[in-house]
Amino acid sequence: MIYGAGGHGKVVLDALECAGRQVAGFVDDDPDRAGGEYCGHSVLAAPGEWEAGRSVGFVVAIGDAGDRMRASDRVEQFGYELVTVVHPKAVVASDVSIGPGSMVLAGAAVNPGVRVGRGVIINTGAVVDHDCAIADFAHVAPGARLAGNVRVGERSLIGIGATVVPGISIAADAFVAAGAVVVSDVGEGVTVAGVPAKPLGRSGAAKTGGRG
Ligand SMILES: CC(C)(COP(=O)(O)OP(=O)(O)OC[C@H]1O[C@@H](n2cnc3c(N)ncnc32)[C@H](O)[C@@H]1OP(=O)(O)O)[C@@H](O)C(=O)NCCC(=O)NCCS
Repeated sequence: MIYGAGGHGKVVLDALECAGRQVAGFVDDDPDRAGGEYCGHSVLAAPGEWEAGRSVGFVVAIGDAGDRMRASDRVEQFGYELVTVVHPKAVVASDVSIGPGSMVLAGAAVNPGVRVGRGVIINTGAVVDHDCAIADFAHVAPGARLAGNVRVGERSLIGIGATVVPGISIAADAFVAAGAVVVSDVGEGVTVAGVPAKPLGRSGAAKTGGRG
């Protein structure tokens, strides 16, 4: 089951199908989406209707990190497994560790020594070079590039096309704007933008990527 019948859910559906996984359908908390159809699959309300099939696993395909974290916790509280998705056209080194519920999408490259936590999104065409550590529920957006030994904190987002130079630490709940080039460490909850990246202000829920 895919939790989240939105844009990111559609991308995850494609990754699962390309990987030869069987998709049973979607669930969504939004009452306007539940009960309908999405991408040819039925959308169930979350969480009540899950009780029917306890053999399913879940991929939580919600862009917003906080919502993704809460939904993942709920899935596990109900006794379901969080499924890890790696698109067959992603290139992932053999020693990379990837936590439950994480998604590595088409064209992404993840090099040796990388550790990926739980519920992480390594999005389309992102590059994560050697020995990076990506904490739980972080998101490396499409086309973003992390050089070697970069640390990304929990729930942080590296925006579309951003670049992070070697050895940088990005703390939890930080937000790197689209196209930024990060050359110094980023503090907790701080949004940085530009080349070189400078603080824009405090990140907020609205900036964490949306439901996708
Ligand atoms: C950084 C970001 C969150 C700002 O969004 P916002 O809070 O709505 O801010 P605004 O659009 O009101 O812009 C605020 C200021 O920041 C500037 N700014 C916004 N995005 C910027 C960026 N990517 N790089 C440089 N400056 C940027 C704006 O020009 C504006 O400057 P001004 O005050 O001098 O006019 C957003 O532009 C962004 O980069 N989002 C990336 C989202 C992403 O990659 N998601 C992944 C989905 S898969």
